[in-house]
Amino acid sequence: PNDEVILAIETSCDETAVAIVKNGREILANVVASQIESHKRFGGVVPEIASRHHVEQITIVLEEALHQGGVTWKEIDAVAVTEGPGLVGALLIGVNAAKALSLANGIPLVNVHHIAGHIYANRLVKEMQFPLIALVVSGGHTELIYMKEHGVYEVIGETRDDAAGEAYDKVARTLGLPYPGGPQIDRLAQIGKPEIPLPRAWLEPDSYDFSFSGLKSAVINKLHNSKQRGEHVAKEDLAASFQASVIEVLVEKTARAAGAYDAKQLLVAGGVAANKGLRQALEEKFGDSNIELVIPPLSLCTDNAAMIAAAGSIEYQKGKRADMTLNGTPGLPL
Ligand code: KG4
Ligand code: ZN
Repeated sequence: PNDEVILAIETSCDETAVAIVKNGREILANVVASQIESHKRFGGVVPEIASRHHVEQITIVLEEALHQGGVTWKEIDAVAVTEGPGLVGALLIGVNAAKALSLANGIPLVNVHHIAGHIYANRLVKEMQFPLIALVVSGGHTELIYMKEHGVYEVIGETRDDAAGEAYDKVARTLGLPYPGGPQIDRLAQIGKPEIPLPRAWLEPDSYDFSFSGLKSAVINKLHNSKQRGEHVAKEDLAASFQASVIEVLVEKTARAAGAYDAKQLLVAGGVAANKGLRQALEEKFGDSNIELVIPPLSLCTDNAAMIAAAGSIEYQKGKRADMTLNGTPGLPL
């Protein structure tokens, strides 16, 4: 059979990304234009600024991807695009670009869920084996997903308040660290002592849900109270203690889910999968088990379009097609 080549576009948040992937697994091009520098001084992503950057960047990134991949439109079988969830104004830029490219080149358009993309980043590294459990931890999401076959997702647990990355970013802000705070806390946590007592949100004994807002408040209170009493708390120790609480709950619940669902693999995805402490804790927990742990390299953990092409490939093979009525959907369910 002929090779299948998919060009994918991702613009759900603050990265403008275009990638070209062959047969769902082989990256021919993967271009990401990050806007982090433009949002830094606001301490978070400003939707209006994100949309404007996407408009400016999309054609440049597209040209670069085609150049990098060394492919022409004749060789591309379909255009995949992130439909949601994400910022509506940001999503629309990618969706409209994808519609135009599909129409102009007479090739199918395939809509992809952003979280499916994060999960399928793993397929660019390792072939998937079912049943599996995926832990998706990003700035907007914290979810445990059960999959018994390609393209079918069952959300078995999710955050009831803040996403893990969101909690990292908010705590970092309180500690006076620049945005995005996740990598900063991770760095401090490596040198600090995790000895400040902070809560663990286990919720109901059988629940796979998460909650991080109580932990975030506990850190803020700790900092506030010690300031009032004139005591000194080392930022490093607070970062290490916060990180220890997040990781302990994430790893325990994930391990329980993997066991209960007889998972052959555990896939980890999303920006927080870049966390050194989390990676180490997962390796310790799953290293000697018969559950295979898969974590993509950093560049595939954070937002990119190669993951959208990988997820899009499965949908394309299944015959999923979008038409010119496709819209960006901020709250799209998985
Ligand atoms: O997946 P992603 O790039 O974008 C979303 O879809 O949200 O994730 C970004 C999130 C941010 O909250 C960032 O602080 C967090 O991932 N992050 C980290 C680390 N690197 C990025 N959190 C903890 N430790 C890290 N090393
Ligand atoms: Zn993401």
